[in-house]
Amino acid sequence: MQQPSENSNEWDAVWINAHLATMESTPENPLGLFRDGAVAVKDGRIVWVGPMSDLRNQSGLEHAQVHDCKSKWLTPGLIDSHTHLVYAGNRAKEFARRLAGESYAEIAASGGGIMSTVSATRAASEDALIEQTMPRLERLMGEGVTTIEIKSGYGLDTKNELKMLRVARRLGEWQKVRIRTSFLAAHALPPEFSGRADDYITHICEEMLPAAVEEGLVDAVDGFCEHLAFSNAQMRRVFEAARRHKLPVKLHAEQLSNQHGAELVAEFGGLSADHIEYLDEAGVKAMAAAGTVGTLLPAAFYFLRETQKPPIDLMREHGVAMAVATDSNPGTAPIETLLLTLNMASTCFGLTISEALLGVTRHAAKALGAEEQLGSLTIGKVADFAVWNVSDLAELPYRIGANPLSSRVYAGQRT
Ligand code: NIG
Ligand code: FE
Repeated sequence: MQQPSENSNEWDAVWINAHLATMESTPENPLGLFRDGAVAVKDGRIVWVGPMSDLRNQSGLEHAQVHDCKSKWLTPGLIDSHTHLVYAGNRAKEFARRLAGESYAEIAASGGGIMSTVSATRAASEDALIEQTMPRLERLMGEGVTTIEIKSGYGLDTKNELKMLRVARRLGEWQKVRIRTSFLAAHALPPEFSGRADDYITHICEEMLPAAVEEGLVDAVDGFCEHLAFSNAQMRRVFEAARRHKLPVKLHAEQLSNQHGAELVAEFGGLSADHIEYLDEAGVKAMAAAGTVGTLLPAAFYFLRETQKPPIDLMREHGVAMAVATDSNPGTAPIETLLLTLNMASTCFGLTISEALLGVTRHAAKALGAEEQLGSLTIGKVADFAVWNVSDLAELPYRIGANPLSSRVYAGQRT
């Protein structure tokens, strides 16, 4: 059991009579489950975690606001570690085309795909983007999500990439949610650079990224390494630029083919390789050695009706931590629910209940480089919780379309 920290004398609040999933894993108890516990909070951080039987001896209890969980399950706030939440319009018409037989790659090659969202997003003001994104954000928050990663990548020029990132930052200021931004200018080739992909990469490295960094808008640098986007050699140049700015990297890797993107991310000590349906053992080994997280995006797999599954067994064997995220975006994953994504991770990819839940808590925090702050009920970490009206946490991945959230706590405050 964890010991109280020295300055825990006066707690602000305590959640009592809770069954806890601390996410502090042991081999026998991967979710760190224990029943009949309590969590205390001061200044937005966790200051005590322990069994109810130890609570009455705690001096901090005296002035604390008490929240009785009445035997509900309490987990860390959920983390959606890969989204493209900020965009304008939608691509329902392309869905209809795909149903009529065209592939995602064919639609992209004919000027649709990412480029159609780029046109809509470039035309939208910051306020319009906020207005369109807010309902998606609120829906995720309504499922106990307290941290969300949001990428740029539908602007593809300095003005519009910065606009998207500013919107992401503003959402985090307006709502009780932590936003981590990823700079994804290397998502698709904009029409201005048609036939000149290398020049666009130079422009990203020399103009766009420095401008975004200058405004404090970038927490990580991302890219799309694929035959219909950017090559391994081009992504290397972007990662070298990221390194010059001391920014961590991550990558859309091996989604539709194996471009050895995972090895590239690992070489740069990157946070995560995402999608990874075509990842091979060399990539898995490189990720394991670098501590790079494998981020699974089952909604994109499902929506594109892919058949090639990520190498889950190899990642288990080599000890690669797996995160699970929505990939919420208008083209390949028009999804606004992390709970349904958990179900897909288990149903489509065979994740265990524990793997799925770690994928949206502790391992998602690691995928954001925030494992010191987020993702588990650990003294010193931020007090972001979700309280669930379930008798067993397996209900979270199990139920389809249900939302058993009872309450949500952000930085120690009920929201
Ligand atoms: O994560 N793979 C590339 N990017 C997105 C799709 C973006 C889009 O089609 O708009 C993804 O699947
Ligand atoms: Fe994505």
